[in-house]
Amino acid sequence: MYGQPSLRQRHGGFQRADKDTMSNHNAASLSISLEPDSGVPAHRQIHEQIRLLIESRRLPIGARLSSSRRLAAELGVSRMTTQTALDSLLAEGYLVSAPRRGLFVAEHLPLSAAPDAASLPTHISARDSGRDIIRFESGAAVADFPNQAWRRCLRQSWLSPSLELMEGTLPGGYPPLRSAVADMLYSLRGLRCAPEHILITAGNRDALTLVLNTLRRLHPERSSVWLETPCYPPVLNGLRGLGLTPKPLNVDSEGAQIPNAPEDPSQSTASLAALVTPARQYPLGHMMSARRRQQWLDHLAARSRNGDSLWLIEDDYDSEFIYEGRPQAPLSAADETGHSILLGSFSKSLFRSLRLGYIVAPPALIEPLRATQKTLGQAAALPLQPALHHFIDSGEFASHLRRMRRLYLDRRDQSLEMLHRAGLPLTPWPCRSGMHLIAELDHDCPLDDVQWAQRAETYHLQLDTLARHYWAEGQARHRGFLLGFSARDIDYQQRAMELLQQSLNAQARNPA
Ligand SMILES: Cc1ncc(COP(=O)(O)O)c(C=O)c1O
Repeated sequence: MYGQPSLRQRHGGFQRADKDTMSNHNAASLSISLEPDSGVPAHRQIHEQIRLLIESRRLPIGARLSSSRRLAAELGVSRMTTQTALDSLLAEGYLVSAPRRGLFVAEHLPLSAAPDAASLPTHISARDSGRDIIRFESGAAVADFPNQAWRRCLRQSWLSPSLELMEGTLPGGYPPLRSAVADMLYSLRGLRCAPEHILITAGNRDALTLVLNTLRRLHPERSSVWLETPCYPPVLNGLRGLGLTPKPLNVDSEGAQIPNAPEDPSQSTASLAALVTPARQYPLGHMMSARRRQQWLDHLAARSRNGDSLWLIEDDYDSEFIYEGRPQAPLSAADETGHSILLGSFSKSLFRSLRLGYIVAPPALIEPLRATQKTLGQAAALPLQPALHHFIDSGEFASHLRRMRRLYLDRRDQSLEMLHRAGLPLTPWPCRSGMHLIAELDHDCPLDDVQWAQRAETYHLQLDTLARHYWAEGQARHRGFLLGFSARDIDYQQRAMELLQQSLNAQARNPA
């Protein structure tokens, strides 16, 4: 659709383009559409749409843009408006100017832009351009956090801090907190474990780094890990950051499927571990079925009998929030091979910036994990651990969870109701737990999820697409959005829903 990049910035200068291959990109070929009702200034809308076209490489390196005068005439705005948009793209480094010849897409995009099409995130980050970005947020409702109780716990925890706490000589974390986590896991999930089996971490990412580094040391010949697709993108990035190769585990309505390919344990392609989210598949939300749980347990047992151990890493990130039915025990509670590792986090149950989580390790891994923690250094800050211990021990944590469960259930129901009233071509999936729902695109939806998210940017609505969570080539995918409902009040949610509706209506009036 767009001409080949005929003009390149090379050796610090421009080469003359072949006249025939160089075409101007005018408003029609850029499919810029302006929304007068969006409340976003026209120059900002033009700027954002051209930026997205450049970042997605739909406007390739070296492409020439029409002049500000011509764009203004085509879009029916003043020249000052188009000039302002083009000037800011120039200043940000998306465009370069060649004297007397015009504006061209720069060869080297700003660092914040996607480096190449293959790694382009399909979830586009909206930028703050003077107005707040609205999102369907799935985090903890921090405005409803019991600050008074937390303040009491902070105070109490620092009345006479122990020297060990300040010197950081508590491997595995603050012992009373480890005991409190063990009790909590028994009462919430029916998992029996001793405090010695628990290591306090700086959240899920730290836990994963510790576990994978440890497993890597134990099995240096192995370099791949089975990972669900779709999955939580930071986990995929974390694996790759450690030099591990992800192997795709497909997900169906029963949860993660069992690895289908046989593996030769003597080969470096044999996997170190499988990383799964049985309590609530992230992002699709399915609880693993009893049948699939048994298949996983059988698989672990068979591999263990063959002497070809596969470690199972279970990411349990928000199982505290179940609205229908009872929580399941983690797989590690039923695994008799001693190869299951449970990762938990307080990011969802308390708040994200706390950066505290835990690992429940099988006996054979405790010492190796501690050794890794010693080598890498302890990432979890100790001073907050006694406060968290008081918070759990005093019963505040349990009552906070009860209140949040009621609040999130109410927000879930209201969000479903709003979605229903909005009459959009989106079908919500049943949502029995967690903090977001999946809204799948209907077949007659005129846009795919990525296109809709791009449209929504103009309205300062940032949508989280399902597309962003799939990572395996050629895989059948659901199309839709993750609509978080937990973090914000109903007025905010209503605003997000209106913007969702407006961005689709804009498409109907102005198809790309
Ligand atoms: C799948 C999944 N795992 C883990 C986490 C928690 O990560 P962290 O403890 O690093 O905040 C989240 C939080 O959103 C998540 O969605």
